[in-house]
Amino acid sequence: MMKRQTSHAKRVLVTAGPTREYIDPVRYLSNDSSGQMGFALARAAAHLGGEVTLVAGPVELATPEGITRIDVLSARDMHAQVKRLAPKMDLIIMAAAVADWRPRRMAKQKRKKTVGPSNHRTIELIENPDILTELGKRKPSHQILVGFALETKDLERNARKKLKVKACDWIVANHANVIGAKTARALLIPSEGKKIALPQLPKEDLALVILSHVLG
Ligand code: C5P
Repeated sequence: MMKRQTSHAKRVLVTAGPTREYIDPVRYLSNDSSGQMGFALARAAAHLGGEVTLVAGPVELATPEGITRIDVLSARDMHAQVKRLAPKMDLIIMAAAVADWRPRRMAKQKRKKTVGPSNHRTIELIENPDILTELGKRKPSHQILVGFALETKDLERNARKKLKVKACDWIVANHANVIGAKTARALLIPSEGKKIALPQLPKEDLALVILSHVLG
């Protein structure tokens, strides 16, 4: 098959998978995410001729051919890599399920089960940086910024809110039932123009359809 040149998106950055926020050396908080959609988008972008960098959280997936993969663990690691790479990118797709909070402190030793008469433990959480919001604030004019919204209710309303707050060009809205599934259905909402309801498709095919829309 002939490769189509992605004239608008030579350099593509994709984030995928969850992040891990460690409580102690063996325990962490995370989000449920297989990374499949992000990996499918990275593969599709490379297939269309893009020069693709994939910043991946901890997932059990093989690296798609011809892609530069950078593995990260925490939201702060992902933030540092994305911040470094973003300015030169033509297209950025933030498909990662970034943890919203992290423990204020990571214990150096494994926390013990018994701590006294109370059976309660408290973990103090602080907010992680919102990587996408930061990118939206300093987006170069040539750059296309795509966010994801995974929702358990009020899909379109919540997705539109994120599109606005995070100042992206597009948001891909999914129901939470796509986590770990081989297929997905999505609502593609542009910052200007009409929403596009995409049918249930294998994630590999959905990735190509999403790219065809965002690249115009
Ligand atoms: O977690 P939330 O539903 O707000 O995620 C929406 C979008 O924002 C996703 O594209 C996700 O990758 C991105 N995000 C981010 N940094 C965060 C939280 C979310 O870039 N700390």
